Amino acid sequence: MRAEHRNTPTGLREPATAGTATAVAHPNIALIKYWGKRDERLVLPRTDSLSMTLDIFPTTTRVRLAPDREHDAVTLDGVPLRGEARRRVTAFLDLVRQRAGLARRAVVDTENTVPTGAGLASSASGFAALAVAAAAAYGLGLDAAALSRLARRGSGSASRSVFGGFALWHAGPDTGTDEEADLGSYAEPVPVGELDPALVIAVVHAGPKAVSSREAMRRTVDTSPLYEPWAVSSKDDLADMRVALHRGDLDAVGEIAERNALGMHATMLAARPAVRYLAPATLTVLDSVLQLRRDGVAAYATMDAGPNVKVLCRRGDADRVAGALRGAVPDGQVLVAGPGPGARLLCGERR
Ligand code: DP6
Repeated sequence: MRAEHRNTPTGLREPATAGTATAVAHPNIALIKYWGKRDERLVLPRTDSLSMTLDIFPTTTRVRLAPDREHDAVTLDGVPLRGEARRRVTAFLDLVRQRAGLARRAVVDTENTVPTGAGLASSASGFAALAVAAAAAYGLGLDAAALSRLARRGSGSASRSVFGGFALWHAGPDTGTDEEADLGSYAEPVPVGELDPALVIAVVHAGPKAVSSREAMRRTVDTSPLYEPWAVSSKDDLADMRVALHRGDLDAVGEIAERNALGMHATMLAARPAVRYLAPATLTVLDSVLQLRRDGVAAYATMDAGPNVKVLCRRGDADRVAGALRGAVPDGQVLVAGPGPGARLLCGERR
């Protein structure tokens, strides 16, 4: 991986002074998926997962303590948040307040450059930025692993966006107290060999999804006969993936990522009722990925809780892959991402 991408969050060990803090975080795309929780309240996953943080679509979140307010004020791109989305943010702030021993409400303003709720990991960058900003504003003084655990409570995949490059989120021990389970479930950077990857993203539909990933994974775990076999095989996929990353073997990384993602979608298709995020345009893109491979280009697809396709390839092949995907979905949008940085505080705004 290219050296300029920091994979450790920066600015996290400054003296903790309650006040105002702004943080930036990037989305991540899982190559070994997180799909299924064993504890909804603590957001503990059934399986380990592994992702690449992107260098596009940053989320910037500013948290300002507001002692005179009775309620939190939360905006997304200048618009007040309502309903479930607002509830998730205030529940997260309650957790931070409880840890800080402070009752003060906050004003939270977020700017997202990623389409929200479209399976492009907006909750990952969103809760990673919120965790880093809120922890600083409330003076928690957390290290990177503790920030990852905290971000996890907002959205599981956010635990990985605390780190840049490649990150592995440990499911943690299945036995013991809640506290032990919480402590054991965090992400950390994964060392990789010589790899210069790109993810070419085909946005075939950028609107919000019909079924939230939270609801979809709950239904899959509860009703899909394919869930347990996938969870078991995902362990093997992770072990193979770590070896492939260590060797810098992009073809192996891509093959493992593609089989893991297709398996995850198979578990959803077998849920009752079925959850189907894949659209006709998704399959058109998957066909073009197969054609690229037949033409000798190393290109491998992964899809999340939405119809959009992310294609892993060598950075040197990214333009060719992007061209093929544009041809496959002329009405879609195609973007090229590389490995991006970990979440960080913006300086100069601490009190
Ligand atoms: C398909 O992290 O959004 O993108 O923990 O319920 O907030 P919650 O779910 P979320 O799920 C992401 C699922 C996925 C796969 C992945 O990122 O590993």
